Amino acid sequence: MVARSTTFYYGFRRYILFSCKYVVFLQAMAHEWPGGRSTRFYDFKVQTLRVTKLCNTKEIVTINKMFPGPVVYAQEDDRIIVKVTNETPYNATIHWHGVRQKLSCWFDGPSYITQCPIQAGQTFTYEFTLVKQKGTFFWHAHVSWLRATVYGAIVVYPQTGVPYPFKYPYQEHIVILGEYWLRDVVQLERQVLASGGAAPPADAFTINGHPGPNYNCSRNDIYKIDVVPGKTYLLRLINAGLNMENFFAIANHKLTIVEADAEYTKPFTTDRVMLGPGQTMNVLVTANQPIGKYSMAIGPYMSAQNVAFQNISAVAYFQYLGAVPNSISLPAKLPSFNDNLAVQTVMDGLRSLNPVNVPKEIDTSLFVTVGLNVNKCRSKTPQQNCQGTNNGTMAASMNNISFVKPTISILEAYYKKIGGHFTEDFPGAPLRFYDFVNGAPNNAPNNTQAINGTRTKVLEFGSRVQLIFQDTGTVTTENHPIHLHGYSFYVVGYGTGNFNPQTANFNLVDPPYINTIGVPVGGWAAIRFVADNPGVWFMHCHLDIHQSWGLGAVLIVENGKGEMETLPHPPADLPRC
Ligand code: C2O
Repeated sequence: MVARSTTFYYGFRRYILFSCKYVVFLQAMAHEWPGGRSTRFYDFKVQTLRVTKLCNTKEIVTINKMFPGPVVYAQEDDRIIVKVTNETPYNATIHWHGVRQKLSCWFDGPSYITQCPIQAGQTFTYEFTLVKQKGTFFWHAHVSWLRATVYGAIVVYPQTGVPYPFKYPYQEHIVILGEYWLRDVVQLERQVLASGGAAPPADAFTINGHPGPNYNCSRNDIYKIDVVPGKTYLLRLINAGLNMENFFAIANHKLTIVEADAEYTKPFTTDRVMLGPGQTMNVLVTANQPIGKYSMAIGPYMSAQNVAFQNISAVAYFQYLGAVPNSISLPAKLPSFNDNLAVQTVMDGLRSLNPVNVPKEIDTSLFVTVGLNVNKCRSKTPQQNCQGTNNGTMAASMNNISFVKPTISILEAYYKKIGGHFTEDFPGAPLRFYDFVNGAPNNAPNNTQAINGTRTKVLEFGSRVQLIFQDTGTVTTENHPIHLHGYSFYVVGYGTGNFNPQTANFNLVDPPYINTIGVPVGGWAAIRFVADNPGVWFMHCHLDIHQSWGLGAVLIVENGKGEMETLPHPPADLPRC
């Protein structure tokens, strides 16, 4: 069955992709999964584009010369086929963030984890089915820092005839939060890593690519939604930013959260939300205020100490029909940059819409510290290369192991049993226990030095897994948006301070089912999932600077029994390193 439908797709898609660009193809294939209900084809060309922003013209990397990139539209259980052709000199891959990639790990996209990058001039076709998934996702480059401009929304509607579990909005809008750099981001990452120090702040925050009126030369570079008084709008919020978590608010308007990371939540009404990079959220907004022009703004949430960040908020307009076009907009009230309570309030409000099936018994329990490190300077030119805290070089780690990407993909090495590229000894607990949040003084090198490694943790198919993430205070405590590929997970608990099993309170009734968890600053979070999707799955901080510094690890989920529990063969066009 699988082999037959694959042959069919290959023959069919060649014809389709040849004959159309930027066109969505809807084809009633009447296949059951893994074939999917309908198949939708997209053609993604990685291309550079000259843009002028902030009085500065530069080339950015895009898909199809669009910024933000094209929206992938689909319905639950559809099959998606995207042919990606790289017409730039940079290495590229695309990750389908939040798509669980059931039995399709080869198409997940993180470079050197599930595939080698698509090199200049090369093509790779991603194929996957949105098995039992709907809502707001996004796609982004998953190599170097290209995600800064290579991103776009994925909108998956329920199947025909299945309503939303809330009143139908009058309209829907995609609102993507981003960060924009005037410098070449691929070079920037290289330079930051070479310096050993921190990353410079973005030159601007953006909303759908627009910085808005608070920035230089941006008076006309503003995103705007025209609204009809009295109507309700669904905003699909996506944080595609690189290194910053952000608050979002609309002046004088309430936001009702109805979905987080593409899973429905109990409606929760708030004045503002916070999204870390990698998080998506659907909110309802009713235009129930006097006719006018209202600011829709994003601003920084920075929970770390002594880190420079962009402090100018990006503003878009939520503009009523009938408002005087040139009138001043009402400012949105954003929390201050260090308002941890505002973040906690939103998190407390996130509950799955319906009671869920949380694993009650656990087969594998992991305790994973997340945090920063300072490594001893090993350079002969310390002024240039050791600009980190105490003249060391910055690093980041899980359980004090700083993740080093291999030179071929881990999935390929694992599948083809090619030795020497990774080890299977990622520790299930820190090598040393101490007062994580308050300990590890910065001047004690023994406590801050990380160990480098490409370590993985192997999980048996079907095992029920619990992971406790514990933030550390090494260098600084900080809220880390930890993302797991291949799965959504239940957030059964979280809190401040060091995790204490005696006092921790778990919600096993209606916890949110998400894919990126903001581990509270100086705190912990507990997640649970069933390891029922075989493959090699990256788990990492979605702040790219932390990822570059090594804040990640890999979970390998073994095959189960039978065809529907086994990862198929790699596709023939899988890129080579
Ligand atoms: Cu959205 Cu590993 O990424």
